[in-house]
Amino acid sequence: MTASLEVCGLAFAYPDGHQALFGVDLRIERGERVALLGPNGAGKTTLVLHLNGILTGGAGTVTVAGLPVGRQHMAEIRRRVGIVFQDPDDQLFMPTVREDVAFGPAAAGLRGPELEDRVRTALERVGMADFADRPPHHLSFGQRRRVAVATVLATEPEILVLDEPSSNLDPASRRELADILRSLDVTVLMVTHDLPYALELCPRSVILSEGVIAADGATGDLLSDETLMRAHRLELPFGFDPRSVPTRP
Ligand SMILES: Nc1ncnc2c1ncn2[C@@H]1O[C@H](COP(=O)(O)OP(=O)(O)O)[C@@H](O)[C@H]1O
Ligand SMILES: [Mg+2]
Repeated sequence: MTASLEVCGLAFAYPDGHQALFGVDLRIERGERVALLGPNGAGKTTLVLHLNGILTGGAGTVTVAGLPVGRQHMAEIRRRVGIVFQDPDDQLFMPTVREDVAFGPAAAGLRGPELEDRVRTALERVGMADFADRPPHHLSFGQRRRVAVATVLATEPEILVLDEPSSNLDPASRRELADILRSLDVTVLMVTHDLPYALELCPRSVILSEGVIAADGATGDLLSDETLMRAHRLELPFGFDPRSVPTRP
């Protein structure tokens, strides 16, 4: 079967010469939810920016459902890889929620009732259907993040990539977003420093450290490995026991 995402030997240096990735290999099967963990400066954002071709030009390959990320198929790649950025205000720029969510599918050629349908479905999936006519900047931060997820879902992506989805959310919003993410039948790659969130949502985690994948395994096993965690500057919240959390599919 074709993987949702396949990264092979990805290496990349920024124009100033700073090398951020040193040969990353990562295969994510369709429907998997994977957490991307690692200390600041590990290369997580650099890796994410390669998944839809915002960054290119290094060594190695990235393919999304069999399609190579490269100049030829950029529009299709941008549709297949839905990136939810850390700050929803980088993603919402239209006068209403509806227009923001319609933007991607309209750019892909959808019109009329088909487009309306797509927008409604995406907003329903994040519990924001009642807010379609509101300006995004009138919503709470948690609501804006959910709308940002909807803008990406509306293009029916192959893989949903989230950068720090739980940051700046209050506990109730954090919980609501977890429920939403768990309800989606889409491949998910989630960059996070929120290790309990990773454990709750992602059966599998990879640790990126100094530009290479340092560990890849069951999230509970990785978080329970104190030596591994310390080596990569990953810290569980005080008193949190990863073995006490049952894994839910
Ligand atoms: N635009 C850039 N130019 C040069 N170096 C960069 C740039 N962006 C990031 N870096 C460097 O690349 C490394 C990886 O950064 P990044 O991918 O942002 O890590 P993370 O997201 O894991 O914190 C860091 O050492 C960072 O300083
Ligand atoms: Mg980052």
